[in-house]
Order: sequence, then structure tokens, then C-alpha cells
Amino acid sequence: RIHPVILSGGAGVRLWPMSREQYPKQFLPLCSERSMLQDTAGRVSDAARFADPLIVCNQEHRFVIAEQMRQTGRGAARIVLEPVGRNTAPAAAVAALIVAEQDPDGQILLLPADHAIQDQGAFLQAVATASAAAAAGLLTTFGIVPTAPETGYGYIRRGEMVKDHDGAFRVAAFVEKPPREQAERYLAEKDFFWNSGMFLLPVRQYLDELERWAPAVLDACRAALARGRSDLDFFRLDEEAFAASPNISIDYAVMERTEAAAVVPCSIGWTDVGAWSALWEIGEKDQGGNVCHGDAVAWDSRGCYVRSEDGALVALLGMENAVVVATEDAILVAARDRAQDIKPLVEHLKTQG
Ligand code: GDD
Ligand code: MG
Repeated sequence: RIHPVILSGGAGVRLWPMSREQYPKQFLPLCSERSMLQDTAGRVSDAARFADPLIVCNQEHRFVIAEQMRQTGRGAARIVLEPVGRNTAPAAAVAALIVAEQDPDGQILLLPADHAIQDQGAFLQAVATASAAAAAGLLTTFGIVPTAPETGYGYIRRGEMVKDHDGAFRVAAFVEKPPREQAERYLAEKDFFWNSGMFLLPVRQYLDELERWAPAVLDACRAALARGRSDLDFFRLDEEAFAASPNISIDYAVMERTEAAAVVPCSIGWTDVGAWSALWEIGEKDQGGNVCHGDAVAWDSRGCYVRSEDGALVALLGMENAVVVATEDAILVAARDRAQDIKPLVEHLKTQG
């Protein structure tokens, strides 16, 4: 069985005013009736294929996560708490070390808690293909067939097919977040895929590659586990030891350097739900191409995302490509094509107290 590892580390700033530091986007029901964390856990709930999930998260969020996992009926999730964020390479290392102890030949499936996947069948199919490649010792990523020249994603160029593994390819190159023109070329070229940030890793090989390319990460994580302690249902990593790890993503620390990387190209209806524009993309549209959520109306408007969260009726008239999100204590009105730029706005609001 595959060990799912759910990563919950992001702050989801671009989904302000719904997403807040104490209660970021992965805990909100943005894409369905359930939170994105719950949807993520639901994708790997088939006990015939998957072991109970391990969650690696910011310690501040421990009670929200425990409660949301209880609601899914999967109380058995193990929750590992990070005293500070050190990006994905250490989070994956901690998970790999824990799994390796009981199942040294095991595989971990790294899943960010804030992604939407619309085609569950295709997802499970891709996981099966990736798992076969991982069983051959490859650190396998999921490459999404791109549908637009996105600049917020990394790209993977595929190389030769992996021998005897239909559907898996060697990685020729990783390109993190290219500029627009480059992304447009990649879209036309056909052997480039979006780096989904999901990985299927044989734990032994991941730890070996980490030892080779980022030994300081591995040492810090080993120490953080050895000196960590259980607390209720949680496991707390040792703060001093974990903080000593370099702050580095798994892409930079290992995937871009290793010879053993593979990519499984797939079309699974995947989106990194990073900004309101992404929720507009995947939302159900009316005739004018508007997505309305809650008590919201877009009259004689086109391409808008309107969301009311607190019972207030929100009505738009004659608007185009706007985002309007109303919550109890804040209302955002933005141009949809500026949805990526909310971070500096939120920074500015913070300085205003
Ligand atoms: N537990 C934990 N701890 N999780 C973390 C941490 C951390 O310190 N840092 C990041 N994560 C989780 C985030 O919650 C998110 O779900 C995921 O790892 C990716 O981190 P991001 O910070 O959102 O990365 P990104 O969006 O800039 O880029 C990565 O993801 C893209 C796809 O979503 C890269 O891998 C890109 O190449 C990729 O296209
Ligand atoms: Mg992201």
C-alpha cells in the first residue's frame, strides 16, 4: 500500500478575504461542500490502495486539522507538527523517515492540501502508473498536460520513456515558473507539463538522494524526530533541530538534481487553487460566464466571480471580469486578471493595522 502524506503549509494569501493566517484556504470549503484538506484526504481514502494518511503541518493548525479529519471519519490520521515552516523538502523528509521505520520499501504519495482534482478516476490511474515507476526506484512526479500558458507553475520537460513502464518518462528538465513568452512556447511544444507538486517517492531512494544532494536537510529532520515528542494525538518535531534545516523545496533540493526523476503525464482536472481566478476557472458558469456562490447575483455581467459568505446579498450590474468576495468583516472588489496580485494588497492592509 501507498502511504499518503498531506502537506499543509501554505497561507493562501491570494484568497483573501476568505483565507486568513489562522484559517487558511486548505481548511475552507472553496471547491466543494468539504474543505480542500478533507477533499484531499477523500482522494486517498480507499483502504485497499492507501494506508492511513500522514499529515505534516504548521503546529498552529493542529486542532483545525484534527477536527476536520475526525469529520471525515478518518480519525486514524497521524499528524506531525512543524514548529516553523522549512518548505517541502524537510516536510517530505520527515514523512519519509517516519514511513521508512515501519515500511523501508514503502512509497509516499505527497499531496499538497490545497489542490483541486476533478477527475478522481484519472487520478487513481496516474497514481498506479507512478507507483509502478516508483517501485523501480524512480522519484516520480505528476506532470499535468497544460491547458494555458500559466506562469505560476513550474514546468517539466519529459525525456525518454522509462523502459517497461508505459506512461512514465525520464525528466529532461525542470523549469520553475517561466516568464509568459516561455510558457507560451512550452504550451505549443507538447513535451512540457505543469509540475503539479504531487510526488510518488520510494522512501529509501528519496532519503538516499537527500543524503547526496541536501544532507543538512536530512540531518536536521533526523534530529527533529529523535528529539521530538508525542503530545496528545500529535507528534511535535523538535524546534531547534528542525529550524536548523535549510528552507528549501523538494524541487530545488532533490528533483532538479537527481538522475532518478520520472514524470507521469496526466489530465486529471488539476488546479492549484491559488487565487480567485482559479476558482472562477473551475466553477460552474451561468450564460454570461459568471460564477456565483452564496447569495450572489451577476446581472448583465460577464466573466465575474461573485461570492457572498455572510448572508449579505451581493449584486453586480454591468460588470466584466470582476471578482467580488464579501465576508463578515471585509469585501474584496478586484479585476479578475489582477487576482494574482492580492499579496501586496494584503501586505499593505497589514501596515494600515
Ligand atoms: N507542511 C508543509 N510545510 N507544507 C508546505 C511547506 C512547509 O513548510 N511549504 C509549502 N508547503 C506546501 C504548501 O501548503 C503547498 O500545498 C505546497 O507545499 C506547495 O508549496 P507552494 O509554496 O504553494 O509552492 P508553489 O505554488 O510556489 O510552487 C510549487 O507548486 C506548484 C504547483 O502547485 C512548485 O512545485 C511549482 O513547480 C508547482 O507548479
Ligand atoms: Mg502553490
